[in-house]
Amino acid sequence: MVEKNLSFPIKKICCIGAGYVGGPTMSVIADQCPDLEVKVVDINPKRISEWNSKNLKLLPVFEPGLDQIIKRVRDKNLFFTTEVDDAIKNADMIFISVNTPIKSSGLGAGEASDLKWVEASARRIASHAQGHTIVVEKSTLPVRTAEVIQKILCSSNKNKDKFGNKTFSVLSNPEFLAEGTAINDLEKPDRVLIGGDNPDSIQKLKEIYLNWVPSDKILTSNLWSSELSKLTSNAFLAQRVSSINSVSAICEATGGNVKEVAEAIGLDHRVGKLFLSPGPGFGGSCFKKDILNLVYLCKQFNLIEVANYWQQVIILNDWQKKRIYTNIVKSLFGNLSDKKITILGFAFKSNTNDTRDSPAIQLSIDLLNEDANLIFNDPKVTKEQIIEVLKNEKSNFKKDDKNLNKKLFFEQDIYKSIIDSDAIILITDWEEYTNLNWQKISNLMRKPSWVFDTRAILDSKKVRKAGINLWQVGEGNFKR
Ligand code: UDX
Ligand code: ADP
Repeated sequence: MVEKNLSFPIKKICCIGAGYVGGPTMSVIADQCPDLEVKVVDINPKRISEWNSKNLKLLPVFEPGLDQIIKRVRDKNLFFTTEVDDAIKNADMIFISVNTPIKSSGLGAGEASDLKWVEASARRIASHAQGHTIVVEKSTLPVRTAEVIQKILCSSNKNKDKFGNKTFSVLSNPEFLAEGTAINDLEKPDRVLIGGDNPDSIQKLKEIYLNWVPSDKILTSNLWSSELSKLTSNAFLAQRVSSINSVSAICEATGGNVKEVAEAIGLDHRVGKLFLSPGPGFGGSCFKKDILNLVYLCKQFNLIEVANYWQQVIILNDWQKKRIYTNIVKSLFGNLSDKKITILGFAFKSNTNDTRDSPAIQLSIDLLNEDANLIFNDPKVTKEQIIEVLKNEKSNFKKDDKNLNKKLFFEQDIYKSIIDSDAIILITDWEEYTNLNWQKISNLMRKPSWVFDTRAILDSKKVRKAGINLWQVGEGNFKR
């Protein structure tokens, strides 16, 4: 075993994967650590050229505040490139930030994460790294992935450096940023978690964060605790959303108002007021995937009751989407054939252009299967993105998907998107949707007109005063 010399300072870091996690995270690190050279690499040349775009509106990730950071540090100490091997070779520390979607086939299909991209990254690091390299897991990963990475790295014996040394240590440093608030979450994190068993490597990563994060917010743990903390943090958050969504259904049945109930619950400091907003079901790339991973892990250890407990969070989430859809169809006389429905918002939440697992996807499929015409409006999600997402769902269409294009419309102007609509469904909590002129909208819609507010963010009095029927999630005094 080669004696490791870990006394070198970290000067160059590389991040494999220029996505929603890698891009913003590395931008903030480069901004806070001007002496570090940060290279973000990706195998997708289109994505890299978008990150290098002169027009900051064309960055591939929309995140408030990100464009200003990119303007400050890009091509100074932050670089986006497809030269993966070269960046790996020169890096002292490499973050793995690639996609880890749920496996669609094979063992663990529908539950376990597909580690194809992580494994490919580890193999590439194994081949091209030189000297001692600290490898940091950033992506959300199943517990014990660090072990897989370690095994791949240790099995490499090619391309040794001039002293014949090639050593690695693996750390877990899960990302807790939420899209839409990523820059703030990165600049002022609640905590930074570093898991590992090599104190020197942990210290090296800690020193990077100490450039802007107070030391009492930097926690260290063993690798498995760190990996598990990420999964369970997201599971707890998702559980809160499913809990409040379950309460929204009870409120609708009993006459309660979910916002009033949420306020009353949240004032108990043991519960807290955040993450109690009812909605159309949680989306995004993490919640469902992480719970599925947790369920899979529990089943592997024969913890069936625990697996069932967490599975229920997803069951409730799917049910919330279905019950909203059912409500819409029933309100529109059970017939949507050729009716015009305006969908306000396609992103899974506001302040992001990310549509992964957005509740808008399932709802759109259900409505298209009812033969409705859909007009989409979203401030940041493009028409091309929506078409691509829906085309990828082809297998879920019961209707002939050849006609799909004739059923989908896009309109950037909110008011134009509403002309002759029978119903508006508000899916994403964009600020833009909260201050609309409901009288003007009422005049533009076909009668009887409906608004389905799946986030309970509209001013119900104004909507109803304009002569529009309104359904709001969790509002008990709804009369059909
Ligand atoms: C989440 C975690 O918050 C973050 O820490 C982790 O690193 C990645 O996963 P993200 O998926 O970006 O972040 O967004 P988040 O704000 O957590 O929202 C997830 C989903 O829950 C969204 O669809 C959102 O609309 C929904 N949600 C959230 C609610 O419906 N109600 C709430 O009160 C909060
Ligand atoms: P996340 O939300 O976790 O950041 P994204 O899908 O937005 O996920 O980004 C992951 C990025 O990782 C993609 O741009 C993808 O092209 C990139 N990627 C996947 N595998 C590799 C690899 N082996 N080398 C370099 N980049 C990769």
